[in-house]
Amino acid sequence: MQPGQSVLVIGAAGGVGSLTVQIAKAEGAKVTAVSSASKEDLVRSLGADDVIDYTREDFTGGARRWDVIIDTAGRRPLSRLRRALTPKGTLVIVGGDGGGRWTGGFFRGMLRAPMVSLFVGQRLRGLATKIKRQDLLALVELVEAGTVTPVIDRTYPLIEVPDAIRYLEEGHSRGKVVITV
Ligand SMILES: NC(=O)c1ccc[n+]([C@@H]2O[C@H](COP(=O)([O-])OP(=O)(O)OC[C@H]3O[C@@H](n4cnc5c(N)ncnc54)[C@H](OP(=O)(O)O)[C@@H]3O)[C@@H](O)[C@H]2O)c1
Repeated sequence: MQPGQSVLVIGAAGGVGSLTVQIAKAEGAKVTAVSSASKEDLVRSLGADDVIDYTREDFTGGARRWDVIIDTAGRRPLSRLRRALTPKGTLVIVGGDGGGRWTGGFFRGMLRAPMVSLFVGQRLRGLATKIKRQDLLALVELVEAGTVTPVIDRTYPLIEVPDAIRYLEEGHSRGKVVITV
């Protein structure tokens, strides 16, 4: 992300999204958060400049476009996401696909997006997290400086992991779910 770029974070109140909003702001981006209305206060408190309630507004109509879209929620076809992207914009598909018939949605992010990307001006990518020491240290610096504050929704002891997973599967958490040992 470059300072001044417009960034749309879909699923902005979730575990990944709540960190993404804050990191994008730290990078100097102008951030639009997509969340349900009940989480508007949360995403604004994380620094979002603008909030779209996806239950009321379809932001993929083409009326507004963003330089970078980070999709943590899935559920929207690539063609619609591309419509909300500037001609040279970047789409990062993080997750949330769930239901592809054969591949559980893997196809859209990991195969289809990079393939389509070869033929259009936009950069379309699926994200596969690689945990690197250097990145974690950079994150620690942001947390220690108070620039990024992890949002903790619920905490479960190890023995209640199945409950934690069931809660996560509902797909509407507010920040992170933490397991304690
Ligand atoms: N690619 C990778 O390496 C990688 C790494 C980590 C996670 N993931 C994947 O990324 C996804 C997100 O993870 P997470 O931990 O952030 O999940 P999460 O905490 O459950 O957050 C998901 C968010 O999506 C929002 N949402 C649900 N339906 C939506 C819709 N129709 N439109 C827009 N937003 C909607 C929810 O907000 P509301 O409650 O406001 O609806 C919720 O805050 C998961 O599928 C996870 O498996 C991928």
